[in-house]
Amino acid sequence: MPTITAEGKTFTCENGANLREALLKNGIDVYNGAASVVNCYGHGTCGTCAVRIEGAVSAMEWLEKARLSLPPHSPDHGRRLSCQVKVMGDISVTKYDGFWGQDDRVVWTPERAI
Ligand code: FES
Repeated sequence: MPTITAEGKTFTCENGANLREALLKNGIDVYNGAASVVNCYGHGTCGTCAVRIEGAVSAMEWLEKARLSLPPHSPDHGRRLSCQVKVMGDISVTKYDGFWGQDDRVVWTPERAI
């Protein structure tokens, strides 16, 4: 079973698990501020569940690529939409500031909440 490390917690999930669902199920909010209530609930359209991931996850498909190509995201910013990511191995996750998680200030690291 893959291991996810995020916001100071480490837990396992099924291979291929949806990252957004795994994080929320383990008490880790993938959203910043009002985005926790104003989001697309995992449909890949709002862009607010963006995180940075290190480790083995599924390749980016067209919907995620399309959303991350639109401002305030940028395709070369190293973010993934957690709702579109399948966990394929051990990973570490970092969340950044901004309504969409698009900024550069860290909100939580794999090791701890900031
Ligand atoms: S929850 Fe909206 S894009 Fe992921």
